Parts: sequence; structure tokens; C-alpha cells
Amino acid sequence: SRSIRLAVIPGDGIGPEVVAQGLKVLAAVLPQDVKLETETYDLGARRWHATGETLPDAELERLKDHDAILLGAIGDPGVPSGVLERGLLLKLRFAFDHYVNLRPSKLFPHTPTPLAGRPDIDFVVVREGTEGPYTGNGGSLRTGTPAEVATEVSVNTAYGVERVVRDAFARAQARPRRKLTLVHKNNVLVYAGHLWKNTFDRVALEYPDVTTDYLHVDAATIFLVNDPARFDVIVTDNLFGDILTDLAAAVTGGIGLAASGNINPDGTFPSMFEPVHGSAPDIAGTGTADPTATILSVALLLRHLGYEPQAARIETAVAADLAERAGAPRTTEETGDALAARVAG
Ligand code: IPM
Ligand code: MN
Repeated sequence: SRSIRLAVIPGDGIGPEVVAQGLKVLAAVLPQDVKLETETYDLGARRWHATGETLPDAELERLKDHDAILLGAIGDPGVPSGVLERGLLLKLRFAFDHYVNLRPSKLFPHTPTPLAGRPDIDFVVVREGTEGPYTGNGGSLRTGTPAEVATEVSVNTAYGVERVVRDAFARAQARPRRKLTLVHKNNVLVYAGHLWKNTFDRVALEYPDVTTDYLHVDAATIFLVNDPARFDVIVTDNLFGDILTDLAAAVTGGIGLAASGNINPDGTFPSMFEPVHGSAPDIAGTGTADPTATILSVALLLRHLGYEPQAARIETAVAADLAERAGAPRTTEETGDALAARVAG
């Protein structure tokens, strides 16, 4: 019989609250014959305060031995900025070679948007996940003096750019509109910009049925607000993708609905699924966080593991549930229960 060996990292703030609902929906949607084995990892602010550890090597080794990872949120006001982000979240993305950071954006019917005229929004951002300005390749001179100099060098390799561009073309080809937009800033970042554009144009020759487009990142933010329907698949670098996907979440009902997958397409390492939002310490413990982003991340997890009907059932349930709640306030648990009931029935 089939099984899913899932590592769970609830993390900080609202992380444990939304993950509990994600697991509830996962259990409800899985066929009877699929055995779900979860192992929970105590990682995040609590662990750091208690032991000073972010992600010990032994834990990283144990995490490898799973089919996938479900993560809630990492980050805490009591921990210096960057410690958990770099020492835990980014360490996982880098160690497990999550080079495709997949972030779908869809405006569900009846979901509020700040945009006029309710445009059709249904695109996916393929954000590079292991390079760019995120590699920690930088330094500081004369730190803390009036003459301080800080560098933060963006690393872009031919290997790293090509593999994510190829993944994005394949995803674009599999969608009805078959359109791929490269977002960069090659009028200013000429070296990395050249590598990205050149790679994009070369791979495009192998996908004659995919329509291609290029936008500078600043222009892309305008279109995300004025004409988001023009986007189908976007491929972009790590930092541009980080920023664009928060904007994309804001126009599609907010960060409470934005799901993501940190994917290692080669299957060498477990892929990791997490809501785009953070630990939201301001509402942690109030039981009011929206678990929908985590539940939609569970759908991405299922799709990645080959459970397409179950993934689609979750997405259909979310669409129906969003129509039903029509913006009315809900507790975290009410939303989890509503979605668990829909996917089971
Ligand atoms: C995200 C987050 C992370 C990122 C932070 C917490 C390191 O903003 O997942 O989008 O920048 O990738
Ligand atoms: Mn972000």
C-alpha cells in the first residue's frame, strides 16, 4: 500500500496553528489506503532560545529521509533579524536544492481584491530559489563607522539559471495559454541580466509553442496591478520573485491565501511546502489566522507527490469555501473544519 512520510516544521507564531489545519485537511482528503506518517520537528525561535541551534546537521540528515516537508512559518521578534531566516529557512532551501520556488496566484470568485473591475488573475511565479542575492555572498567593511561599506553580491550561474528557466518553460507549455514572461532588470543589472535573457532566448527555441515576453521588474509591478490578466507563467530571480509574489498575493485576496512550494524537481531531496506569509506574531495565539494558504500549500504538496485528484479536490473546496465565507470573519479552526468537511464529502 502507498504511504506518505511527511516531515512537519510548525515553526513560530501562527505557524503551528495553520499547520494543524493543513494536516487535518490532508488526513481528510487522502484515500483510505494511503498511510500518512508524520514526524514533527521542533525548529524555530523556541529551539534557538533554548539551545542556540537553528538547524543542526543531524536534523538536516533526518529531514532528508522524508517524501516532503510541510512548514508553517519561521521568524520571531525576539530573535535577531536574519538568524532564523538564514540559519533555518534559507538553509533548508539551499541544502535541499529547492531551485524552483513555485508560487501560484489566482483570484478566486467572491474573493475581495483591491483591483478595479475584477480581472481574471491566474498565473504562477517560478521564483529561482537557490541563487541571486540570497546566497549570503557579501560583506561589510568598517562596520558601524560613518565609512561603512556593504556589499551583497547576486550570484547567478549558467547551470542555476538554465535549470529554472527550463522548468518554467515546461510549466508554461503544460498550461492552456502557454505564455512565459521573464522578469529581470537587464537595463541596469547587465551581467546577470544578460545571462538570464540569453538563457531564456536560447531555451525558448526548444518551445516554439510557448509565447514569450520580457519585462523589467519595475514595469512588471505596474502590470501586476493594471493588467494582471496578461500573466500566465513568470520566471524570475530569487529577490524579484520574493517581492512580486507578495504583490501578487495582495491583489488576489491577501497573504492569507498565498501558497508556495520549494521544489527540488530532480527528486534528490524532499520538497518543502509553506504558506508565503510569515509567523504574524501580532495575531499568534488568537486563533484567527487564516489557514487557507497552508491548506493550498498542502494541495501543491499532494500534486508534487502525484496525488492530482486530491490536490484538485482541495482547490475546488477552497474556491467553494471562499464563496461561502464572503469575507465574514472566521477562526483558524472553523476554516480548517469547513475545508476538511468539503474534501471528505
Ligand atoms: C518568503 C520569505 C522569505 C524569503 C524570508 C522569510 C527569508 O519572505 O518566503 O517569501 O525572503 O524568501
Ligand atoms: Mn517573501
